[in-house]
Amino acid sequence: MAKVCVIGSCSMDLVVTSTKRPLAGETVLGEGFSTVPGGKGANQAVAAARLGAEVAMVGCVGEDFYGTAIMENFKKNRVLTTNVEPVTHAESGTAHIILAEGDNSIIVVKGANNLVTPALVERALEAIRESDMVLIQQEIPEETVSYVSEVCHKFNVPMLLNPAPARPITEAIIENAAYLTPNEHERAILFPGMSTAEALQKYPNKLFITEGSKGVRYYDGNQEVLVPTYKVNAIDTTGAGDTFNAAFAVALAEGNSIRASVKFANRAASLSVTKFGAQGGMPTRAEVEANL
Ligand code: RIB
Repeated sequence: MAKVCVIGSCSMDLVVTSTKRPLAGETVLGEGFSTVPGGKGANQAVAAARLGAEVAMVGCVGEDFYGTAIMENFKKNRVLTTNVEPVTHAESGTAHIILAEGDNSIIVVKGANNLVTPALVERALEAIRESDMVLIQQEIPEETVSYVSEVCHKFNVPMLLNPAPARPITEAIIENAAYLTPNEHERAILFPGMSTAEALQKYPNKLFITEGSKGVRYYDGNQEVLVPTYKVNAIDTTGAGDTFNAAFAVALAEGNSIRASVKFANRAASLSVTKFGAQGGMPTRAEVEANL
C-alpha cells in the first residue's frame, strides 16, 4: 500500500446553488445551501485514501464546530490525523462557493490554515520521511511550502506540488519538487515570459499542465504528450483538480509509469465531477478501475 503524506488546508465548504451568479451590487435568490467538507489539502487526503493509499494529513483546524466535523470526516475516510492540530486562536478555514451557470466561484478564508507553519511540519517529520510521496498545495503559507520542499529533497521523498491557488514561487521550490501540476492560468504565473511549450520542455516529466476537459499535457523528453480526459455529465467540478492530484500521486507512489498514472488520475477526476460537493464524487479504487 502506498504511503502518502498530505500537507495542506482543511476547510468547510459553504455552498450556495443558484441559476444566476450575482453581479457586483446585485442580489439574486438562490436555490439551495449545503455545508460539506473541503479545503484542497483535506480533499486530496480523502481522495488518496479512497483510492487505497495510507494517508497521513498535516494541517490545522479551529477548535470549533467546523473543526470537529472536519476531524470526524477524516476518521470516516481513514485519514490519519495525528498531525492535524486543533488551534484555539483561529477559526477553521472556510470556502464560500457559488455554484451557478455551470461553474463555481470560490472565496477562501484561510483561518487556521494560516497556522500550518514550518514549526508544525517539523513535528511531522517522521510521517514525511516514511512516505512514498508528499502532496502539497498553496492554501497554506509559502514559507511552509518552501520548508517542505527542502525536507523532501533532504529525505529523498518525491514532492508533488499542486500550485493552487496561483501565486509566484521560488526557483528553489520548483527545483526541489518532483512534480508540478498547474492549470494554464497557474502555469503563466509560475513561469512568466515563457510559453507553455517552453515551460514544458524545460521540465520534462515534471511539469503537468491540467487543461480541464481537454486533458493533461506534459513533455516526455522527446515530445509533447496530451493525455485526454473522459467525457462525463458534470454536476459539480469542485474538487476535480484535487482528485486528479491525489490519484496521480497514488499511482506514481505505487510505481506506475507517468502515462498510466495520468490516465488513472484523469479517470478518477472525471468520476469525481458526477456528484455534488468537493468530496461527494471522489471515487474508490474499485470504481476507477471498473471504468478505466
Ligand atoms: O479545490 C477545491 C477546494 O478549493 C474546495 O473544496 C474549497 O475548499 C477550496 O479551497
